Amino acid sequence: MNNLDFIKEELDKLKEAGLLINVRTIEGPQGAWITVDGKKVLNLCSNNYLGLANDPQLKTASQKAIDAYGVGPAAVRTIAGTTTLHKELERKLALFKGVESTISFQSGFCANLAVIPAIVGKEDVVFSDELNHASIIDGCRLSKTRTVRYEHCNPEDLQTKIHAEKDVKRKLIITDGVFSMEGDIAPLPEIVEIAEKYKAITMVDDAHGEGVLGRGGRGIVDHFNLHGKVDIEVGTMSKAFGVVGGYIAGTKKLTDYLMQKGRPFLFSSAVTAADVAACIAVVDTLNESDDLVKKLWSNTGFFQDRMKQIGFNIGNTKTPITPVMIGDARVAKNFSQKLFEEGIFAQSIGYPTVPVGKARIRVMLSATHSEEDLTWAIEHFERIGKSLNII
Ligand SMILES: Cc1ncc(COP(=O)(O)O)c(C=O)c1O
Repeated sequence: MNNLDFIKEELDKLKEAGLLINVRTIEGPQGAWITVDGKKVLNLCSNNYLGLANDPQLKTASQKAIDAYGVGPAAVRTIAGTTTLHKELERKLALFKGVESTISFQSGFCANLAVIPAIVGKEDVVFSDELNHASIIDGCRLSKTRTVRYEHCNPEDLQTKIHAEKDVKRKLIITDGVFSMEGDIAPLPEIVEIAEKYKAITMVDDAHGEGVLGRGGRGIVDHFNLHGKVDIEVGTMSKAFGVVGGYIAGTKKLTDYLMQKGRPFLFSSAVTAADVAACIAVVDTLNESDDLVKKLWSNTGFFQDRMKQIGFNIGNTKTPITPVMIGDARVAKNFSQKLFEEGIFAQSIGYPTVPVGKARIRVMLSATHSEEDLTWAIEHFERIGKSLNII
Protein backbone atom coordinates (compact mmCIF):
# COMPACT_ATOMS: atom_id res chain seq x y z
CA MET A 1 0.00 0.00 0.00
CA ASN A 2 1.43 3.33 -1.08
CA ASN A 3 0.47 6.72 0.39
CA LEU A 4 -0.28 7.97 -3.10
CA ASP A 5 -2.62 5.13 -4.08
CA PHE A 6 -5.61 7.50 -3.91
CA ILE A 7 -4.32 9.24 -7.05
CA LYS A 8 -5.21 6.33 -9.31
CA GLU A 9 -8.75 6.23 -7.89
CA GLU A 10 -9.14 9.97 -8.42
CA LEU A 11 -7.90 9.74 -12.02
CA ASP A 12 -10.21 6.78 -12.71
CA LYS A 13 -13.15 8.78 -11.36
CA LEU A 14 -12.32 11.70 -13.67
CA LYS A 15 -12.08 9.36 -16.64
CA GLU A 16 -15.42 7.74 -15.82
CA ALA A 17 -17.11 11.16 -15.67
CA GLY A 18 -15.61 12.28 -19.00
CA LEU A 19 -13.55 14.90 -17.15
CA LEU A 20 -10.02 13.59 -17.62
CA ILE A 21 -8.10 16.28 -19.46
CA ASN A 22 -6.03 15.16 -22.41
CA VAL A 23 -3.22 17.65 -22.93
CA ARG A 24 -2.48 17.65 -26.65
CA THR A 25 1.04 18.20 -27.97
CA ILE A 26 1.50 21.05 -30.43
CA GLU A 27 4.35 20.85 -32.90
CA GLY A 28 5.31 24.29 -34.16
CA PRO A 29 4.02 27.83 -33.70
CA GLN A 30 0.52 29.09 -32.96
CA GLY A 31 -1.68 30.14 -35.88
CA ALA A 32 -5.01 29.43 -37.56
CA TRP A 33 -3.73 26.00 -38.53
CA ILE A 34 -1.42 24.07 -36.23
CA THR A 35 0.00 20.58 -35.97
CA VAL A 36 -1.35 18.72 -32.95
CA ASP A 37 -0.25 15.19 -32.11
CA GLY A 38 1.09 14.95 -35.67
CA LYS A 39 -2.16 16.09 -37.31
CA LYS A 40 -2.80 19.40 -39.10
CA VAL A 41 -5.90 20.98 -37.54
CA LEU A 42 -7.84 24.24 -37.53
CA ASN A 43 -7.08 25.89 -34.20
CA LEU A 44 -10.27 26.94 -32.43
CA CYS A 45 -9.01 26.88 -28.86
CA SER A 46 -6.19 29.30 -28.38
CA ASN A 47 -6.41 32.70 -26.73
CA ASN A 48 -4.25 34.08 -29.53
CA TYR A 49 -7.07 36.52 -30.37
CA LEU A 50 -5.03 38.78 -32.60
CA GLY A 51 -2.68 36.18 -34.05
CA LEU A 52 0.34 37.85 -32.45
CA ALA A 53 1.84 34.71 -30.90
CA ASN A 54 3.92 34.05 -34.03
CA ASP A 55 4.17 37.60 -35.36
CA PRO A 56 7.48 38.32 -37.17
CA GLN A 57 7.89 41.77 -35.57
CA LEU A 58 7.45 40.33 -32.09
CA LYS A 59 9.91 37.56 -32.82
CA THR A 60 12.52 40.03 -34.04
CA ALA A 61 12.01 42.13 -30.89
CA SER A 62 12.53 39.02 -28.73
CA GLN A 63 15.62 37.94 -30.63
CA LYS A 64 17.18 41.39 -30.24
CA ALA A 65 16.37 41.37 -26.52
CA ILE A 66 18.09 38.02 -26.08
CA ASP A 67 21.20 39.43 -27.75
CA ALA A 68 21.11 42.47 -25.50
CA TYR A 69 20.00 40.96 -22.18
CA GLY A 70 20.48 37.19 -22.39
CA VAL A 71 17.84 34.60 -21.59
CA GLY A 72 17.15 34.75 -17.85
CA PRO A 73 16.58 37.41 -15.17
CA ALA A 74 18.83 35.52 -12.69
CA ALA A 75 16.80 36.40 -9.57
CA VAL A 76 13.75 38.28 -8.36
CA ARG A 77 13.57 41.95 -9.27
CA THR A 78 13.71 43.30 -5.71
CA ILE A 79 16.95 41.45 -5.06
CA ALA A 80 18.84 41.50 -8.35
CA GLY A 81 17.36 44.59 -9.96
CA THR A 82 15.22 44.95 -13.03
CA THR A 83 16.00 45.66 -16.66
CA THR A 84 15.29 48.87 -18.54
CA LEU A 85 13.04 46.74 -20.77
CA HIS A 86 10.74 45.76 -17.88
CA LYS A 87 10.45 49.42 -16.96
CA GLU A 88 9.76 50.45 -20.54
CA LEU A 89 6.98 47.88 -20.80
CA GLU A 90 5.34 49.12 -17.60
CA ARG A 91 5.53 52.73 -18.81
CA LYS A 92 4.09 51.90 -22.25
CA LEU A 93 1.33 49.75 -20.76
CA ALA A 94 0.28 52.61 -18.47
CA LEU A 95 -0.02 54.96 -21.46
CA PHE A 96 -1.93 52.33 -23.44
CA LYS A 97 -4.40 51.67 -20.61
CA GLY A 98 -4.75 55.35 -19.70
CA VAL A 99 -3.60 54.89 -16.09
CA GLU A 100 -0.86 56.45 -13.98
CA SER A 101 1.19 53.31 -13.56
CA THR A 102 1.47 49.54 -14.07
CA ILE A 103 3.51 46.78 -12.45
CA SER A 104 4.20 43.55 -14.31
CA PHE A 105 4.09 39.99 -13.00
CA GLN A 106 4.94 36.55 -14.36
CA SER A 107 1.34 35.87 -15.42
CA GLY A 108 -2.23 37.05 -14.95
CA PHE A 109 -2.63 34.30 -12.38
CA CYS A 110 0.31 35.69 -10.38
CA ALA A 111 -1.05 39.23 -10.67
CA ASN A 112 -4.27 38.13 -8.94
CA LEU A 113 -2.33 36.21 -6.28
CA ALA A 114 -0.23 39.32 -5.71
CA VAL A 115 -2.86 42.01 -5.50
CA ILE A 116 -5.77 40.49 -3.56
CA PRO A 117 -3.85 39.47 -0.40
CA ALA A 118 -2.01 42.81 -0.52
CA ILE A 119 -5.26 44.77 -0.47
CA VAL A 120 -7.54 42.82 1.87
CA GLY A 121 -7.15 40.67 4.98
CA LYS A 122 -9.08 38.94 7.74
CA GLU A 123 -11.07 41.99 8.86
CA ASP A 124 -12.35 42.80 5.38
CA VAL A 125 -14.89 41.41 2.88
CA VAL A 126 -14.54 40.56 -0.80
CA PHE A 127 -17.59 40.54 -3.06
CA SER A 128 -16.83 38.20 -5.94
CA ASP A 129 -18.89 37.28 -9.00
CA GLU A 130 -19.75 33.58 -8.68
CA LEU A 131 -18.12 32.83 -12.06
CA ASN A 132 -14.85 34.65 -11.41
CA HIS A 133 -11.66 33.01 -12.63
CA ALA A 134 -9.81 30.44 -10.49
CA SER A 135 -6.90 32.84 -9.95
CA ILE A 136 -9.26 35.34 -8.31
CA ILE A 137 -10.72 32.59 -6.13
CA ASP A 138 -7.23 31.49 -5.12
CA GLY A 139 -6.16 35.10 -4.47
CA CYS A 140 -9.15 35.48 -2.14
CA ARG A 141 -8.29 32.22 -0.37
CA LEU A 142 -4.70 33.32 0.12
CA SER A 143 -5.86 36.61 1.61
CA LYS A 144 -7.96 34.73 4.22
CA THR A 145 -10.63 37.36 3.65
CA ARG A 146 -14.29 36.46 4.01
CA THR A 147 -15.60 36.14 0.47
CA VAL A 148 -19.24 36.78 -0.40
CA ARG A 149 -20.19 35.44 -3.82
CA TYR A 150 -22.83 37.38 -5.71
CA GLU A 151 -24.90 36.02 -8.59
CA HIS A 152 -23.20 36.10 -11.95
CA CYS A 153 -23.37 39.59 -13.53
CA ASN A 154 -26.22 40.56 -11.19
CA PRO A 155 -25.80 44.09 -9.78
CA GLU A 156 -29.04 43.80 -7.75
CA ASP A 157 -27.66 40.79 -5.91
CA LEU A 158 -24.34 42.59 -5.38
CA GLN A 159 -26.22 45.59 -3.98
CA THR A 160 -28.21 43.39 -1.55
CA LYS A 161 -25.11 41.57 -0.37
CA ILE A 162 -22.94 44.64 0.02
CA HIS A 163 -25.73 46.44 1.87
CA ALA A 164 -25.80 43.62 4.42
CA GLU A 165 -22.07 44.26 5.03
CA LYS A 166 -22.17 48.04 4.79
CA ASP A 167 -20.46 48.54 8.15
CA VAL A 168 -17.35 46.56 7.21
CA LYS A 169 -14.55 49.09 6.79
CA ARG A 170 -12.73 47.72 3.75
CA LYS A 171 -14.82 46.17 1.00
CA LEU A 172 -13.42 44.94 -2.32
CA ILE A 173 -15.60 44.09 -5.31
CA ILE A 174 -13.91 41.81 -7.85
CA THR A 175 -15.18 40.81 -11.26
CA ASP A 176 -13.80 39.26 -14.40
CA GLY A 177 -14.23 41.79 -17.23
CA VAL A 178 -15.04 39.15 -19.84
CA PHE A 179 -15.97 35.77 -18.39
CA SER A 180 -13.63 33.23 -19.88
CA MET A 181 -16.08 30.33 -20.18
CA GLU A 182 -19.21 32.35 -21.08
CA GLY A 183 -17.90 35.24 -23.17
CA ASP A 184 -20.27 37.69 -21.49
CA ILE A 185 -19.17 41.09 -20.19
CA ALA A 186 -19.40 42.27 -16.57
CA PRO A 187 -21.87 45.11 -15.90
CA LEU A 188 -19.00 47.36 -14.88
CA PRO A 189 -20.86 50.73 -14.89
CA GLU A 190 -23.43 49.36 -12.41
CA ILE A 191 -20.69 47.77 -10.29
CA VAL A 192 -18.80 51.08 -10.16
CA GLU A 193 -21.99 52.88 -9.12
CA ILE A 194 -22.59 50.43 -6.26
CA ALA A 195 -18.94 50.70 -5.23
CA GLU A 196 -19.18 54.48 -5.08
CA LYS A 197 -22.33 54.27 -2.97
CA TYR A 198 -20.78 51.86 -0.46
CA LYS A 199 -17.22 53.21 -0.65
CA ALA A 200 -15.91 49.86 -1.87
CA ILE A 201 -12.69 49.26 -3.79
CA THR A 202 -13.25 48.00 -7.37
CA MET A 203 -11.12 45.47 -9.19
CA VAL A 204 -11.63 44.10 -12.70
CA ASP A 205 -9.68 41.27 -14.29
CA ASP A 206 -9.39 42.27 -17.94
CA ALA A 207 -7.60 39.09 -19.12
CA HIS A 208 -10.03 38.47 -21.99
CA GLY A 209 -10.84 42.14 -22.63
CA GLU A 210 -7.23 43.09 -23.32
CA GLY A 211 -6.70 43.49 -27.07
CA VAL A 212 -10.39 42.72 -27.62
CA LEU A 213 -12.64 45.38 -26.04
CA GLY A 214 -12.37 49.16 -26.13
CA ARG A 215 -10.66 51.46 -28.61
CA GLY A 216 -7.89 49.50 -30.34
CA GLY A 217 -8.14 46.75 -27.69
CA ARG A 218 -7.57 48.97 -24.64
CA GLY A 219 -9.87 46.79 -22.57
CA ILE A 220 -13.09 46.89 -20.60
CA VAL A 221 -12.53 50.17 -18.76
CA ASP A 222 -12.09 51.92 -22.08
CA HIS A 223 -15.07 50.00 -23.54
CA PHE A 224 -17.35 51.51 -20.87
CA ASN A 225 -15.44 54.80 -20.71
CA LEU A 226 -14.83 54.35 -16.99
CA HIS A 227 -11.31 55.76 -16.90
CA GLY A 228 -10.31 56.72 -13.36
CA LYS A 229 -13.31 54.96 -11.83
CA VAL A 230 -11.93 51.45 -11.37
CA ASP A 231 -9.28 51.17 -8.66
CA ILE A 232 -7.47 48.03 -9.79
CA GLU A 233 -7.18 46.53 -13.28
CA VAL A 234 -5.58 43.15 -13.78
CA GLY A 235 -4.18 42.40 -17.21
CA THR A 236 -2.55 39.48 -18.91
CA MET A 237 -0.14 39.38 -21.82
CA SER A 238 -0.73 35.68 -22.38
CA LYS A 239 -3.91 35.99 -24.43
CA ALA A 240 -4.49 38.70 -27.07
CA PHE A 241 -0.91 39.91 -26.59
CA GLY A 242 0.24 36.44 -27.66
CA VAL A 243 3.18 36.35 -25.25
CA VAL A 244 3.16 35.68 -21.48
CA GLY A 245 2.99 37.79 -18.34
CA GLY A 246 0.49 39.72 -16.27
CA TYR A 247 0.17 43.18 -14.76
CA ILE A 248 -1.75 45.43 -12.44
CA ALA A 249 -2.77 48.87 -13.66
CA GLY A 250 -3.89 51.78 -11.49
CA THR A 251 -2.39 54.65 -9.54
CA LYS A 252 1.33 55.04 -8.85
CA LYS A 253 0.49 54.63 -5.15
CA LEU A 254 -1.02 51.21 -5.89
CA THR A 255 1.91 49.92 -7.96
CA ASP A 256 4.48 51.30 -5.47
CA TYR A 257 2.64 49.40 -2.76
CA LEU A 258 2.53 46.16 -4.78
CA MET A 259 6.28 46.42 -5.34
CA GLN A 260 6.63 46.12 -1.54
CA LYS A 261 3.75 43.73 -0.83
CA GLY A 262 2.96 41.65 -3.95
CA ARG A 263 4.45 38.30 -3.02
CA PRO A 264 4.96 36.92 -6.57
CA PHE A 265 6.91 40.14 -7.28
CA LEU A 266 9.00 39.73 -4.14
CA PHE A 267 9.60 36.00 -4.21
CA SER A 268 9.62 34.84 -7.84
CA SER A 269 11.75 35.82 -10.83
CA ALA A 270 10.34 38.09 -13.52
CA VAL A 271 9.53 37.01 -17.07
CA THR A 272 12.47 37.08 -19.46
CA ALA A 273 13.72 40.00 -21.54
CA ALA A 274 12.55 38.17 -24.68
CA ASP A 275 8.96 38.06 -23.34
CA VAL A 276 9.06 41.68 -22.27
CA ALA A 277 10.42 42.90 -25.61
CA ALA A 278 7.67 41.04 -27.45
CA CYS A 279 5.05 42.62 -25.16
CA ILE A 280 6.46 46.09 -25.87
CA ALA A 281 6.16 45.32 -29.59
CA VAL A 282 2.49 44.37 -29.03
CA VAL A 283 1.72 47.71 -27.40
CA ASP A 284 3.46 49.48 -30.29
CA THR A 285 1.48 47.41 -32.82
CA LEU A 286 -1.85 48.18 -31.11
CA ASN A 287 -0.98 51.87 -30.89
CA GLU A 288 -0.29 51.93 -34.64
CA SER A 289 -3.42 50.22 -35.92
CA ASP A 290 -6.69 48.58 -34.87
CA ASP A 291 -6.90 46.40 -38.00
CA LEU A 292 -6.34 43.15 -36.08
CA VAL A 293 -9.00 44.02 -33.50
CA LYS A 294 -11.47 44.81 -36.29
CA LYS A 295 -10.72 41.52 -38.06
CA LEU A 296 -11.25 39.62 -34.80
CA TRP A 297 -14.70 41.18 -34.40
CA SER A 298 -15.73 40.57 -38.01
CA ASN A 299 -14.76 36.89 -37.63
CA THR A 300 -16.71 36.77 -34.38
CA GLY A 301 -19.91 38.12 -35.99
CA PHE A 302 -19.54 35.81 -38.98
CA PHE A 303 -19.08 32.62 -36.94
CA GLN A 304 -21.58 33.32 -34.18
CA ASP A 305 -24.40 34.43 -36.52
CA ARG A 306 -24.13 31.23 -38.54
CA MET A 307 -23.86 28.96 -35.51
CA LYS A 308 -27.04 30.50 -34.07
CA GLN A 309 -28.85 30.17 -37.42
CA ILE A 310 -28.00 26.46 -37.50
CA GLY A 311 -29.54 26.09 -34.05
CA PHE A 312 -26.59 25.89 -31.68
CA ASN A 313 -26.98 27.44 -28.24
CA ILE A 314 -24.00 29.75 -27.78
CA GLY A 315 -25.19 31.18 -24.48
CA ASN A 316 -24.98 34.88 -23.76
CA THR A 317 -21.62 35.63 -25.33
CA LYS A 318 -20.82 39.19 -26.33
CA THR A 319 -17.21 38.55 -27.30
CA PRO A 320 -15.09 36.18 -29.46
CA ILE A 321 -15.36 33.49 -26.74
CA THR A 322 -18.05 31.18 -28.12
CA PRO A 323 -19.39 28.50 -25.78
CA VAL A 324 -21.20 25.85 -27.82
CA MET A 325 -23.44 24.47 -25.09
CA ILE A 326 -23.73 20.68 -24.86
CA GLY A 327 -24.64 19.83 -21.24
CA ASP A 328 -23.31 16.35 -20.55
CA ALA A 329 -19.52 16.20 -20.19
CA ARG A 330 -19.22 12.82 -21.96
CA VAL A 331 -21.18 14.07 -24.99
CA ALA A 332 -19.06 17.23 -25.10
CA LYS A 333 -15.88 15.17 -25.01
CA ASN A 334 -17.19 12.92 -27.77
CA PHE A 335 -18.11 15.99 -29.86
CA SER A 336 -14.62 17.42 -29.40
CA GLN A 337 -13.03 14.08 -30.33
CA LYS A 338 -15.10 13.84 -33.53
CA LEU A 339 -14.16 17.41 -34.44
CA PHE A 340 -10.51 16.54 -33.93
CA GLU A 341 -10.76 13.45 -36.14
CA GLU A 342 -12.10 15.74 -38.89
CA GLY A 343 -9.32 18.30 -38.44
CA ILE A 344 -10.74 20.79 -35.92
CA PHE A 345 -9.09 21.46 -32.58
CA ALA A 346 -11.83 22.69 -30.23
CA GLN A 347 -11.68 21.40 -26.67
CA SER A 348 -14.58 20.37 -24.49
CA ILE A 349 -14.77 22.07 -21.12
CA GLY A 350 -16.37 20.38 -18.12
CA TYR A 351 -16.45 20.51 -14.33
CA PRO A 352 -14.72 22.05 -12.35
CA THR A 353 -14.01 24.74 -14.99
CA VAL A 354 -17.77 25.07 -15.59
CA PRO A 355 -20.64 23.79 -13.39
CA VAL A 356 -21.71 20.12 -13.60
CA GLY A 357 -24.20 19.59 -16.47
CA LYS A 358 -22.98 22.69 -18.33
CA ALA A 359 -20.22 21.13 -20.41
CA ARG A 360 -19.49 22.84 -23.69
CA ILE A 361 -17.15 23.13 -26.61
CA ARG A 362 -15.40 26.45 -26.21
CA VAL A 363 -14.59 28.00 -29.57
CA MET A 364 -12.07 30.82 -29.52
CA LEU A 365 -12.08 33.04 -32.56
CA SER A 366 -9.00 34.82 -33.80
CA ALA A 367 -8.00 37.45 -36.32
CA THR A 368 -5.88 34.75 -37.97
CA HIS A 369 -8.92 32.77 -39.17
CA SER A 370 -10.18 33.34 -42.69
CA GLU A 371 -13.91 33.22 -43.54
CA GLU A 372 -13.10 30.11 -45.53
CA ASP A 373 -11.66 28.44 -42.40
CA LEU A 374 -14.71 29.35 -40.37
CA THR A 375 -17.21 28.26 -43.04
CA TRP A 376 -15.46 24.91 -43.22
CA ALA A 377 -15.56 24.57 -39.40
CA ILE A 378 -19.27 25.47 -39.26
CA GLU A 379 -20.11 22.71 -41.78
CA HIS A 380 -18.38 20.17 -39.54
CA PHE A 381 -20.06 21.49 -36.39
CA GLU A 382 -23.43 21.19 -38.10
CA ARG A 383 -22.91 17.63 -39.29
CA ILE A 384 -21.50 16.35 -35.98
CA GLY A 385 -24.09 18.34 -33.99
CA LYS A 386 -26.88 16.63 -35.93
CA SER A 387 -25.34 13.18 -35.52
CA LEU A 388 -25.19 13.68 -31.73
CA ASN A 389 -28.70 15.22 -31.54
CA ILE A 390 -27.36 18.52 -30.25
CA ILE A 391 -29.21 20.51 -32.92
C1 LIG B 1 -9.99 35.98 -16.11
C2 LIG B 1 -8.62 35.40 -16.11
N1 LIG B 1 -7.71 35.86 -15.26
C3 LIG B 1 -6.46 35.38 -15.22
C4 LIG B 1 -6.08 34.38 -16.08
C5 LIG B 1 -4.67 33.86 -15.99
O1 LIG B 1 -3.90 34.48 -16.96
P1 LIG B 1 -2.44 33.92 -17.28
O2 LIG B 1 -2.59 32.84 -18.29
O3 LIG B 1 -1.69 35.11 -17.77
O4 LIG B 1 -1.90 33.41 -15.98
C6 LIG B 1 -6.97 33.87 -16.99
C7 LIG B 1 -6.55 32.78 -17.90
O5 LIG B 1 -7.21 31.85 -18.20
C8 LIG B 1 -8.28 34.38 -17.01
O6 LIG B 1 -9.18 33.92 -17.88
